[in-house]
Amino acid sequence: MSNHHPKYEVKFPKDFLWGTAMSSHQAEGGNIFNDWWAWEQKGKILNKQVSGDACNHYEMYKKDFEMMEQMHHNSHRISIEWSRIEPTEGNFNQSEIDHYRKVLLDLKKRGIKPVVTLWHFTLPHWFAKQGGFLQKEGRLKFLRYARRVVEELGDLIDIWCTINEPFVYANFGYNEGTWPPGQKKFFRMLKVIKELLHVHIDAYQLIKETYRNNGWGKTMVGFAKSFIWFDAVNKRGLYNKLVTEIYRYFYNKLYFKPFYTGKYSLLLGGGKIHDAKDSLDYIGINYYFRCECRIDIWKNPFKVHLQPAADVEKTLFNWEVFPDGLYHLTKLVHRKLHKPVLITENGISTLDDDQRISYIVRHLDAINRAMAEGADVMGYMYWSFLDNFEWVEGYTQPFGLIAFNHKTFERMPKKSAQVYSEICKNGTVTNAMFNKYAKRLKERKSD
Ligand code: BGC
Repeated sequence: MSNHHPKYEVKFPKDFLWGTAMSSHQAEGGNIFNDWWAWEQKGKILNKQVSGDACNHYEMYKKDFEMMEQMHHNSHRISIEWSRIEPTEGNFNQSEIDHYRKVLLDLKKRGIKPVVTLWHFTLPHWFAKQGGFLQKEGRLKFLRYARRVVEELGDLIDIWCTINEPFVYANFGYNEGTWPPGQKKFFRMLKVIKELLHVHIDAYQLIKETYRNNGWGKTMVGFAKSFIWFDAVNKRGLYNKLVTEIYRYFYNKLYFKPFYTGKYSLLLGGGKIHDAKDSLDYIGINYYFRCECRIDIWKNPFKVHLQPAADVEKTLFNWEVFPDGLYHLTKLVHRKLHKPVLITENGISTLDDDQRISYIVRHLDAINRAMAEGADVMGYMYWSFLDNFEWVEGYTQPFGLIAFNHKTFERMPKKSAQVYSEICKNGTVTNAMFNKYAKRLKERKSD
């Protein structure tokens, strides 16, 4: 019997976007004017940690971008910190706007295309105190900030991501209560989701109009949607299947379906949403893991157990590594929407850097298979460039390609940074990489 395995190589198109994603509060440091900073001071983070100086990226952005350039990245996703731009209501800080202009110019000078998120979870303290997006004028206040940013920086940006993971924000902040404002009010969560649908649609129109008025040419506008692949434990168990469908509906569809049906789902009141179908040039997929749903119907029919499948590969976060989820979701999203897809986040927190490389290689393979079957994928942003502040888990979840010293802020690239850099340079995941790091995939492919 021969143990010869066929060569397996995954090639991506020439114009594919390669890079990483970061967010302002998780990396910049010193974001003292937002609601997360206040939340941290109340001891709400694991081990009572605070974001503090984070990765000091605010001061070290040039060094970080220089490394990205050396690593052959051709794009990078950042977020603009609203609380820096508008620390008190209506007072815009020009020097902070100028800072982001320098950030964007530095990226561009290095041939790194910026993907810019207007809002990644943090709210200026004043806006949060007024009731966040639930206050009457909330949306208008956000749009006033967005207008200023687009007018000042739009000439440098070809890809916009209006908002990040609206469902995750609404669920943790208003349903589970683990994020600010710490509420457990299911119907409020639904209201926030509904409001954030309009925030995206209005921001989309605002950006398009500003580009038209200024003659700035084409730009692509979308948002980043978090998806989880849900499966039922014991696929034939009727109750498990039912709760799985419910979770798929809530997590994956509630905020996504309106964009291809043009209607609110019934849970959000039903009815047509004006312009929803025309407000996406692409959709951003944030994908990390699979979750199995189980319910002990005789013990407690209201308690759903969400967990990784038994005996599977897991991350330090206890998330199940399941690359096929990204394959299925990319195909599904493309089939429903008929729009390009950008993988705006995908990554692993682990202390085992070989596992990280394996994770990247297998997820790229999953994307590539979806592309071979017709999905139009524009690029891949690994989460994250640096180990950074992971919200409620503080600094305990290393997602980065680069570690850093928390005192000196010295950057320490991991092996994964090197391997990812080779992938970005050649637009190819090689057979050698599969053999060395992605054994499970090799086994599956050569069966
Ligand atoms: C968020 C990031 C977060 C990452 C890992 C995504 O939900 O956009 O801010 O760090 O997942 O948990």
